[in-house]
Amino acid sequence: LTRAKIPEGLQKLPGPKPLPIIGNLLELGNNPHLSLTAMSTCYGSVFQIQIGMRPVVVLSGNEVIRQALIKQGEDFAGRPDLYSMRFVSDGKSLAFSTDQVGVWRARRKLALSALRSFSTVPAETSAYSCALEEHISKEGLYLIDRLHSVMKSAGSFDPFRHIVVSVANVICGICFGRRYSHDDEELVGLVNMSDEFGKVVGSGNPSDFIPFLRFLPSKTMKKFLDINARFSSFMKKIVKEHYDTFDKNNIRDITDLLIDHCEDRKLDENSNVQVSDEKIVGIVNDLFGAGFDTISTALSWSVVYLVAYPEIQERLHRELNEKIGTDRTPCLSDRSATPLLEAFILEIFRHSSFLPFTIPHCTTRDTSLNGYFIPKDTCVFVNQWHVNHDPELWKDPSSFNPDRFLSADGTELNKIEGEKVLVFGLGKRRCIGESIGRSEVYLFLAILLQRLKFSSMPGEMLDMTPEYGLTMKHKRCQLRVTPLPGFQLSGA
Ligand code: HEM
Repeated sequence: LTRAKIPEGLQKLPGPKPLPIIGNLLELGNNPHLSLTAMSTCYGSVFQIQIGMRPVVVLSGNEVIRQALIKQGEDFAGRPDLYSMRFVSDGKSLAFSTDQVGVWRARRKLALSALRSFSTVPAETSAYSCALEEHISKEGLYLIDRLHSVMKSAGSFDPFRHIVVSVANVICGICFGRRYSHDDEELVGLVNMSDEFGKVVGSGNPSDFIPFLRFLPSKTMKKFLDINARFSSFMKKIVKEHYDTFDKNNIRDITDLLIDHCEDRKLDENSNVQVSDEKIVGIVNDLFGAGFDTISTALSWSVVYLVAYPEIQERLHRELNEKIGTDRTPCLSDRSATPLLEAFILEIFRHSSFLPFTIPHCTTRDTSLNGYFIPKDTCVFVNQWHVNHDPELWKDPSSFNPDRFLSADGTELNKIEGEKVLVFGLGKRRCIGESIGRSEVYLFLAILLQRLKFSSMPGEMLDMTPEYGLTMKHKRCQLRVTPLPGFQLSGA
């Protein structure tokens, strides 16, 4: 690859010397968030590595990330053409594909407005403030019954296995107007495979950068292709059912709304960006995929941290008991009254940094940062993990301590500290599900913690080492759960 000439006044990016063919692959290792954080102490907050033959710019500091993604947002808003991304939603994903800027912008706008309108529509009954709250609340209560019946029959449960179905059902409700049984083999099989997906699309997967690796047999890659195929056939079936029963006068869910948009647009001759029907209706694939994996990973980590820090769990029980009591189910408007739970969630986001890098970015034109030249079409990794563990920003960053987000007397959330946590990205590509994500993590946890106490299996050590990927998961484990006083569980 030839590199553009460096314009006068700008400098070449610093970085480690690459080896022939593999570049800096060995230094990258199995935990790129850790190795690249360590590298930034040598090379600074913006530097260049090479994976295979391809240069990659790494952004590794609060200031420089804000400068690139917010102040120079347009320059850094692209997605690189990486091998694995071509298989996500047949290459037509909103989040991963290399769509032209106009096409991406039109799709993102539509996705945002669809999400907004279907999560804020009124609920079926006035007991809930909105449809989102109703879905989460009902799924939270089903989950409790489910955990109870699993405990009765097996004596322990795998947190991710059950949480992911409940979370998937919330987004299924919004996107497809339906939910699935916890015994539905197709859905349960599909949503429990997301670890393999994240391993392949995580930043720094060698076969994205080194073509010959694609020809070596790889179990992970085989599973990745299998997940994408299963996901795509699952989605096609649902979309077809929606087309078959579509009624313009009764828009039931996000899939209907997107189908309706295609019809309307055909009547609008002035529309200046051409986006295919497939790419419009395909937005629902991104919403469903992004909507279940991220939130279930956050919740599953939360349960593991509750078990690892029983004294914090106890304080959370006390807070919920005092502020909400046992007579009613928690709701979204309880958030401001439960600062410790809010602080706990922020600390989960920060400490686990389970989305260590954003989805990779790409420069859309020649640009520069801190006086260094970055040519058009350069792949950019954004190291969120580093921001969340930077000793310049956090006191004792490696300790898990929700109190860092509370006022000295523990009664108020420190919002300014909270805004320093980086998990949803920033700027033009910032997550569009942030508000749903935060609401859902809160309400599921509040409902679970109001009624249940989580603990480990006697004699078993919790392994909190994350497995690297786009979303980092904890190892699958078996935990126990018992009802708190005042709650009878049916286990139905
Ligand atoms: C993108 C985090 C929940 C939809 C992203 C990105 C991150 C992220 C880090 C990449 C930003 C970048 O590339 O710079 C999270 C976290 C969540 C969450 C931590 C939950 C705790 C959701 C939900 C939805 C969603 C619930 C949808 C229902 C999307 C979409 C994109 C995205 C469509 C791609 C945006 C684009 O490329 O323009 N998210 N997300 N996310 N997220 Fe989320």
